[in-house]
Amino acid sequence: MRTETPPTIRLQDYRPSDHLIDRVDLDIRLDPHASRITAVLALRPNPAGTPGAQLVLDGDELGLVGLALDGKALPAEAYAATPAGLTLHAPPQGPFTLTVETVVDPTANTKLMGLYRSSGVYCTQCEADGFRRITYFLDRPDILSVYTTRIEAAREEAPVLLGNGNPVETGDVPGTDRHYAIWQDPHPKPAYLFAIVGGRLGHVGRSFVTSEGREVALGVYVEPGKEARADYALDAVARSMTWDEEVFGRAYDLDVFNVVAVSDFNMGAMENKGLNIFNDKYVLASPETATDADYANIEAIIAHEYFHNWSGNRVTCRDWFQLCLKEGLTVFRDQEFSSDMRSRAVHRIGEVRTLRARQFPEDAGPLAHPVRPKHYAEINNFYTATVYEKGAEIVRMLKTLIGEAAFRNGMDRYFSENDGTAATVEDFLAAFATETGRDLAHFAQWYERPSTPRIAVSGHYDATAKTYRLDFRQTRPGAGADAPPLVIPVALGLIGPDGPLTATNARVRDGVFVLESAEDSLTFENIAAQPVPSLFRDFSAPVRVEMALSDAEQLTLLRHDTDAFNRWESAQRVALRILIEAARSGSETLDGSEGLAAALAAFLDGEALRDPAFAALMLALPSEGEVASEIGANIDPDAIFSARRRLRQALAARLRDQLAVLREQLADPAGAAFSPAAAAAGRRAFRNAALDLIAVADPERGAALAREQIATAATMTDRLAGLATLAQIPGEAREAELAAFAELYADEPLILDKWLAIQAAIAEDDTIARIGRLQRHPAFSMTNPNRVRSLVGVFSLANPTQFNRVDGAGYALVADTVLALDKRNPQIAARLLTAFGSWRQLEPVRRAAAEAALRGIASAGGLSRDVADIAGRSLA
Ligand code: ARG
Ligand code: ZN
Repeated sequence: MRTETPPTIRLQDYRPSDHLIDRVDLDIRLDPHASRITAVLALRPNPAGTPGAQLVLDGDELGLVGLALDGKALPAEAYAATPAGLTLHAPPQGPFTLTVETVVDPTANTKLMGLYRSSGVYCTQCEADGFRRITYFLDRPDILSVYTTRIEAAREEAPVLLGNGNPVETGDVPGTDRHYAIWQDPHPKPAYLFAIVGGRLGHVGRSFVTSEGREVALGVYVEPGKEARADYALDAVARSMTWDEEVFGRAYDLDVFNVVAVSDFNMGAMENKGLNIFNDKYVLASPETATDADYANIEAIIAHEYFHNWSGNRVTCRDWFQLCLKEGLTVFRDQEFSSDMRSRAVHRIGEVRTLRARQFPEDAGPLAHPVRPKHYAEINNFYTATVYEKGAEIVRMLKTLIGEAAFRNGMDRYFSENDGTAATVEDFLAAFATETGRDLAHFAQWYERPSTPRIAVSGHYDATAKTYRLDFRQTRPGAGADAPPLVIPVALGLIGPDGPLTATNARVRDGVFVLESAEDSLTFENIAAQPVPSLFRDFSAPVRVEMALSDAEQLTLLRHDTDAFNRWESAQRVALRILIEAARSGSETLDGSEGLAAALAAFLDGEALRDPAFAALMLALPSEGEVASEIGANIDPDAIFSARRRLRQALAARLRDQLAVLREQLADPAGAAFSPAAAAAGRRAFRNAALDLIAVADPERGAALAREQIATAATMTDRLAGLATLAQIPGEAREAELAAFAELYADEPLILDKWLAIQAAIAEDDTIARIGRLQRHPAFSMTNPNRVRSLVGVFSLANPTQFNRVDGAGYALVADTVLALDKRNPQIAARLLTAFGSWRQLEPVRRAAAEAALRGIASAGGLSRDVADIAGRSLA
């Protein structure tokens, strides 16, 4: 059976619901195989809807076991129920209550949407459309209701019962081994924010007093025995709350705020009102088990989900086309938070690397879509880098354009004008337009079409007139011939041979020039000598910049720019140029590598000890994926890999002695206490980047150092870095250390995920066979999303040469996994399939092999809507 083309939902077809649901009273009796849900819905016709319309409730794989209207059972001819919906043919014209009873099997729910069990713990995931897997409902974000939830379960199985809002009552069910808890959420919310949890859980807690004087009980719930690993997350909750009060004036609005970690979760985490549910990977941390990256991710994701309480929950989305309204804005907010907690420049570089690694390729491939999509077949496929990361960049540009104070005022206005409503991107922009008196219609174009703009810049120095002119030209590849030019904030400055110049031009305000037309020019007066422009400082817009600067000019920026981002960027640009030329020509020589190495050596000499985290980033070359995305067509991943390896060897040969010395100098003093903070993490990052390069220059010495580090490491960061370095060096030692590591952490699935990932990324022909063996290892499981992502996901995204093998074996491995997984968890299967997103840019042999794999999937029978949608769009 071929899957039919799924129906398309269009933004332009939005219309308000014909009915509203003011109150929802739920009684949920948890049972492993037959959980019974009684929902009492207080309904009424929507004045904005069609009078006399049928009531059509959404369902998904539901079975109806009881239905009553105003307390009276409904005759069969009054309604129609299927697993996918419940229709009342002639609902009352005034308010009425509908009592709906459903029974679901949480143990059999392998899609991890709706009510399911994770390691025995009952939990829910309702965004985007999981609530309809619990009960029949108007499952759309513009239906806001006040919920009361009674949760009942066997006390032995689920001593902890959590819901949205505030706890109001607990008790025993007389004559049984069961107990219950009642939760009440006073804030009207859409069904996608509904959640319950029931299970045997340990917890840590503390109290927090908000700026409004409300005392809030904070709790983090984890697998019993892992409570000590929840402290960092708990602290991050409190820091997020304080930050949102101080920076955005937003205080928390319930008496409790709970976070629950579960081990089977499709995404990172979920912002359910007062009850955030997390992938345990983003909660659990201790020095022995978590890396510095884990700590940073936990801090960022705890903050992200907490910040949703205002940007997402208090003000939610009218429809799913507005997803960026909450996600782009909340990513921007969590980025700002992390920047304040850590090093702003280092964090900004990380944000841009993610954007370039994930969003730029998406924008350039068949899955490209506007930040606000215009249509979709499966909304769960739109939780993308474009909606999240590019969405955040748009908010950042808005702030750059209107300035910090106006931005804060506009945010205040947005929150207060839209509080308790389901809003749109237009509502968001209107708040800033009103605040500033500006017309933001032109700026709004950023939301409307895909494509990463290209900004061609040329500089012209007139030695006689002492003027310097910059000519800008913007194009929008893939946006359509009629695409209007965008409003692009260009933060810039000029750098002279000895340092920054004071260059003034009336059109540059606070260091920002606004490019609004297809072409424009800027002329600076009184420029004594040919300068080097520092453009798009701090990455002021998500664009690709094309400017023919020599290596020497670029490296002037590394030496003299005041903008940390562009100092890093300058070395990246030089490395990219070298890599692209080497990959294209295949020649052994790397023209310009000595200049880059010398510049890096000078930089390290002056600055590695002062800012090791930044120095570690300076040592990281553009990834293979980034080089591929810059080349853009006829890509040969092997050529890129070999160019990159040669450049790493060239740099390592020049820097190794210096790196060895710095690595010693940056060692932690003996007995120093562990700190997950940015300064200590930065030292570890530098030491490990240095180790990796030393191993490139001298594999034997690198292997010895790596083994020593694995044996003596005081942190998981250092132990894993040792293992990752060793994994690049084939031989007995590698296999022995990998085996010993697996044994040491046999009971730590999150640590073994990293062990799987390290092996999945080995760029050797044997990796496919290794992955086959790992799939049969007890550490792996096809049913747990984290395991699948660590092994097959990392292989597809972080091992370009093996994924893109000429013989197609890499594609086959991923395609087989997608098909096997689709039966049980379509969301994870579809996400994995997006790895084929850049197939059209490959050289012909690989392109044909990738296309064949994609066509094999597309023509397989019984595909989920999720996978059918990705396969179909990828091939379109
Ligand atoms: N809103 C969640 C977040 O903050 C993502 C949930 C997505 N879940 C899904 N099944 N599509 O990022
Ligand atoms: Zn989010």
